[in-house]
Amino acid sequence: MKFSVMLLLLLLVVCQVDQGQACLNQEEAYRFTGAVCRLTYPAALVLNEKTTRVIEAAFQHAKYPSIEGEKSMMMFGKVTYGLHNLEIHNLSIGHSEVELRPGEGVGLVISNVSAVFNGTIKYGYGSWLVKVSQSVDFEIDAQIDLGINPKLYCGAGKVAADTSDCYLKFHKLQLILQGDREPGWLKRIFTDFVTFTVKVVIKSQICQEINNVANILADFIQHRAEQFLSDGNIGVDIGVTSAPVITSNYIESYHKGLAVYNNTKAVINASVFHPSQLTEHRMLYFWISDDVLNPLIAAAQLDGRFSINISGANLMDLFKADLSSEMPTTIKQILSSEAAVLTAWSVRVPQLWNAPDGTHVKAVAAIELSPGPPSSDTPPLYFETEVEVLVHTSYAEKKLILKAKALKITIDTVLQHQNAIMLEEALVNYLKEAVEKIGIPKVTSVLEPSLTALMDMQGLYLFDIINPEVLTQNGYVLIQMGFGFPHHLLVEFLKKTLV
Ligand SMILES: *[C@@H]1O[C@H](CO)[C@@H](O)[C@H](O)[C@H]1NC(C)=O
Ligand SMILES: *[C@@H]1O[C@H](CO)[C@@H](O)[C@H](O)[C@H]1NC(C)=O
Ligand SMILES: *[C@@H]1O[C@H](CO)[C@@H](O)[C@H](O)[C@H]1NC(C)=O
Ligand SMILES: *[C@@H]1O[C@H](CO)[C@@H](O)[C@H](O)[C@H]1NC(C)=O
Ligand SMILES: *[C@@H]1O[C@H](CO)[C@@H](O)[C@H](O)[C@H]1NC(C)=O
Ligand SMILES: *[C@@H]1O[C@H](CO)[C@@H](O)[C@H](O)[C@H]1NC(C)=O
Repeated sequence: MKFSVMLLLLLLVVCQVDQGQACLNQEEAYRFTGAVCRLTYPAALVLNEKTTRVIEAAFQHAKYPSIEGEKSMMMFGKVTYGLHNLEIHNLSIGHSEVELRPGEGVGLVISNVSAVFNGTIKYGYGSWLVKVSQSVDFEIDAQIDLGINPKLYCGAGKVAADTSDCYLKFHKLQLILQGDREPGWLKRIFTDFVTFTVKVVIKSQICQEINNVANILADFIQHRAEQFLSDGNIGVDIGVTSAPVITSNYIESYHKGLAVYNNTKAVINASVFHPSQLTEHRMLYFWISDDVLNPLIAAAQLDGRFSINISGANLMDLFKADLSSEMPTTIKQILSSEAAVLTAWSVRVPQLWNAPDGTHVKAVAAIELSPGPPSSDTPPLYFETEVEVLVHTSYAEKKLILKAKALKITIDTVLQHQNAIMLEEALVNYLKEAVEKIGIPKVTSVLEPSLTALMDMQGLYLFDIINPEVLTQNGYVLIQMGFGFPHHLLVEFLKKTLV
């Protein structure tokens, strides 16, 4: 199986840090799990394409320290030597292979890395009679296989990757002294212990650097993930509930998905999650419980997000909609004022539940249609409406699309001049139709670009998302997709942090 270190990094992204409860075993964790991320083998193939860039960066960015040592030689007494200004050139990387080891971790082999290291050797030897001190430039041609066996584990509420199992296998390590102007004896003496020393240094520097790059990249992406899930005062705790599961075809991570608002955190303890709800044929899956969405909606309501004012030409355009009921005189009078304003807000926290036929949302909205300045002759009209809609969500051409269909609309209170007015049938019918044909499309048309903008602000548009599907079932929504790894994101990262 071909795979990559990027997969790990992506995993680290989704699986972010949190204090919180100790990790539970999977079965126990399901009911506390609000969100799940499943990344399959085909996704790893895409990520694999980027592996070599990260490995190259690791090799090039590694600092190769000077090496100094001494060795006793029968003929020359003590020989001291130093390797200085070690640099790496002409790096090329063959290919990378990764396998998922069920229940264990990830195995990654980068094979046929060839590179030229060059630098200067200073050496000295001699007795109290003769002292020799020399300096010669050298090159080392190396061909290396690199293996990393990251272990994924769950500790302190986060998924962590331990990359300490890292090895380098040298197929070739050839020391070439500049011009070969020294006699063969020197080369022979040096070859053995210098190559040994160089191997040790390269190994430790490369492994250290891979760990370093992995951590920086994970932090970088994680930082984006944190931002992605927060807006203003509303945040989401996506700490893990359990260690990730690794099968031969996917890696799956389990998250809390708790909305955080105004110092209070949602509670999820009866999630309906079960792994059988996800398939394995798409690249990436996000499973999200209604228990994640409802507290977010509640937070948005408390944060005053569900309110809108419409006036001027926008208001006039709204009422140009073609309705079968005739516009009541009261409304005609209000709209005849140039300063007319429509204000709509959600009266209480809207409820959401997913079901096989789509996402149901039930909300109570208050609408005030006012001619403008209070002094005006025409009093404002106020009414409340309870609406249940069925929403189908999709994402295409980097835009979120909401298709909402009214299932039930009731007009509850109608007030004018703070007085309840007679619920004339004509007015009620008009308002119902207006809510359905003007109100609901208006709300979705406002939500679509603002939710898209919210996601784009965090860089969603950077990702190449392929044929995303949004599937709803009782109690949860499943978002599944293919994707292209954003090359520019990786380049941006490498530029910013390494160069
Ligand atoms: C790198 O490769 C180029 C072209 O193959 C060659 O001219 C150059 O000398 C090489 N550099 C080192 C340090 O070997
Ligand atoms: C390793 O890389 C070298 C140089 O790029 C190439 O000549 C050789 O065929 C490669 N070997 C394997 C096994 O990929
Ligand atoms: C190593 O190679 C580079 C590029 O070929 C050269 O600029 C540099 O001077 C070399 N370093 C030593 C110590 O020979
Ligand atoms: C935030 O919480 C405090 C105390 O719990 C409460 O007094 C305040 O009204 C809350 N603010 C909002 C916007 O909900
Ligand atoms: C789940 O959480 C709610 C709210 O905190 C609590 O009232 C209820 O007892 C909990 N149920 C279980 C089974 O822990
Ligand atoms: C709507 O207008 C009212 C009164 O002018 C104002 O208090 C409120 O903040 C406005 N709401 C929005 C969403 O602009």
